[in-house]
Amino acid sequence: MGKLSLTGGARLVGTVRSSGSKNSTLAIMAGALLGKGRTVQHNVPEIGDVRTMMDMLRALGVGCEELSQGVVSIDATDIENTEAPYELVKKMRASFCVLGPLLARRGYAKVAMPGGCDIGARPIDLHVKGIQALGAVVNIEHGFVEAEGDGLRGAQIYFNLPSAGATQHIMATACLAQGVTTIHNAAMEPEVVELCNLLTKMGANIRGAGTPTVRIEGVKELHGTEFEVVPDRMEAGTFAVATTMTMGDVTVENIRPDHIEPFVLKLREVGAIVDMYDNAMRVRCNARPMATDITTMPHPGFPTDLQQPFAAMLSIAQGVSIVTENVYERRFKYVNEIGRMGADIKQDGRTAVITGTAKLLGAPVTAPDLRGGAALICAGLAAEGQTDISGTEHVERGYENLTYKLCQLGAQIVSNPNDIERESILV
Ligand code: EPZ
Repeated sequence: MGKLSLTGGARLVGTVRSSGSKNSTLAIMAGALLGKGRTVQHNVPEIGDVRTMMDMLRALGVGCEELSQGVVSIDATDIENTEAPYELVKKMRASFCVLGPLLARRGYAKVAMPGGCDIGARPIDLHVKGIQALGAVVNIEHGFVEAEGDGLRGAQIYFNLPSAGATQHIMATACLAQGVTTIHNAAMEPEVVELCNLLTKMGANIRGAGTPTVRIEGVKELHGTEFEVVPDRMEAGTFAVATTMTMGDVTVENIRPDHIEPFVLKLREVGAIVDMYDNAMRVRCNARPMATDITTMPHPGFPTDLQQPFAAMLSIAQGVSIVTENVYERRFKYVNEIGRMGADIKQDGRTAVITGTAKLLGAPVTAPDLRGGAALICAGLAAEGQTDISGTEHVERGYENLTYKLCQLGAQIVSNPNDIERESILV
């Protein structure tokens, strides 16, 4: 089990560079399966989930290799195997989205029901509805989803809610269906737009990505391409929260301002000074943050993946804040852990009432999931004393070199404190 030992109190100061987006990378790796050729991705983050997806593609008999740091080549000219192994799919929900591309390319796919962070039920009914609408016969039993159908056909598909994953999954699959597919009530996340950009470069015909209505005109074949992964908006937001909590002054480079606007507007409400540039933002805070309310929503609402770090910041804010989590029903698992540090958070269902306290006190805590772990790290950086966080393997799934980057900004962190080697860099 991964462990971090943080000594709180240091202001974060300096410059840090966001890595490529985890969520965009994973969608693009699945989308590359549609191309009869080689797709090379640049700015790919070196994180656990990407390694899992690479293993998944290799298990399908697809060429997949890291050409150099952050550069991954996927050659899907031939797809030998149409069954995605359970031990990989259970590790990461995004791997489920290989089902549609396998079906579109080979007429058959068998993929285990997805796993990933325990933040809610996370059903796949919209994914299945879309695959069935495109003409496949879907059978779900023994924990596997089996889809069969030669010659997918375009369809009108309505999503009861704007699911990012289902939108990406069906948009990609429909590229090789005969005729026109229209997805109504589609998700508008930046990762949907980025996947559309990749597929378009591969020869797809898609209109409306980033709006509630996406229209895909199927083509016979897609080819490989080269693609640059966008910066990770959740990583950038996490650095901005940590900077605000430690009253620091950090410039986050390699960002897409248009992707994090909802978050930045809320960050300014707590008193942070945020200067936006073409592909960077400077975050400063010289006073205890002020309380504000956040309500997570599908894009362009406040992103659910930044709810936990933001709530950690509100736990030391002046005043009472209300956090409403509308996307996942179990995304407050960090509340008990941060409560051990003195945070006053009363959670009831999808709402948490946070009464800000002047300071948190370091304590031993356990990361419950990826973003909850990031929240605890932010809390430990601002807390008085030492915070020992276990379960940080969750965090390593989705943040590239987070400890190293924070230490470069002045954080006092030791990875796996029981080991001999130390990773803290005293700046
Ligand atoms: C993606 O998950 C991201 N993961 C999530 O980030 C992110 O929180 C989420 O989108 C929302 O933006 C990846 O891209 C790998 P959804 P996804 O389908 O696609 C319900 C992180 O921390 N739903 O938009 O699974 C679902 O239960 C992760 O990086 C159905 O009901 O999210 C949830 O309540 C966490 N039926 C809501 O929709 C379905 O068939 C939003 O889910 C699909 C989803």
